[in-house]
Amino acid sequence: MNFDSRQLRDALGHFPTGVIIATAKTDEGEQMGMTMSSFNSVSLDPPLVVFSIHLGAASLAKWRSCRRYAINVLSESQEELSNRFARTKSSKWDGVRSIKGHFDTPLLPGVLVALECEQYARHDGGDHELFVSRVLAIHKAPDELGRPLVFAKGRYWQLQSDQPNLGC
Ligand SMILES: Cc1cc2nc3c(=O)[nH]c(=O)nc-3n(C[C@H](O)[C@H](O)[C@H](O)COP(=O)(O)O)c2cc1C
Repeated sequence: MNFDSRQLRDALGHFPTGVIIATAKTDEGEQMGMTMSSFNSVSLDPPLVVFSIHLGAASLAKWRSCRRYAINVLSESQEELSNRFARTKSSKWDGVRSIKGHFDTPLLPGVLVALECEQYARHDGGDHELFVSRVLAIHKAPDELGRPLVFAKGRYWQLQSDQPNLGC
């Protein structure tokens, strides 16, 4: 290998992603939430998506035990919410309202779209664990046309234009 983990992280930072907050309610009724950029689509039929959780995350065991969760796709105005759910604190939900989804998952208001999912498979991903999830329901938000929050090179970015690039 001609690189260390810092160089790998920097190299991968050139690839921009959106930002999601995965949310769930444990069997004991505890609300969970974690900011993630490792979200991606996997399959349309069956409808599958994926995210990964660091093996060192304090909440990993609880995520493993959740059968259902929601993927909340953040808008560019939700940077603060993203930072709040990236902290290792039980107070992540203090003052944050949630909406009950069709499958009893806590949905975050103001997001671009929320997907209710059930756990489909978990795989080894080195120092992360891959959570493949089956989409059960799509909740479109009134602000669906809003712009997504973008994460790249270790910080948030804002998309500049509403106009898609039609040159392709
Ligand atoms: C923009 C952003 C993206 C993140 N993406 C991930 C991710 O994909 N996987 C992950 O395990 N942690 C990710 N984190 C860090 C987690 O959000 C953070 O470690 C987690 O909320 C800690 O929660 P816990 O201590 O309750 O387990 C990300 C943080 C930020 C700010």
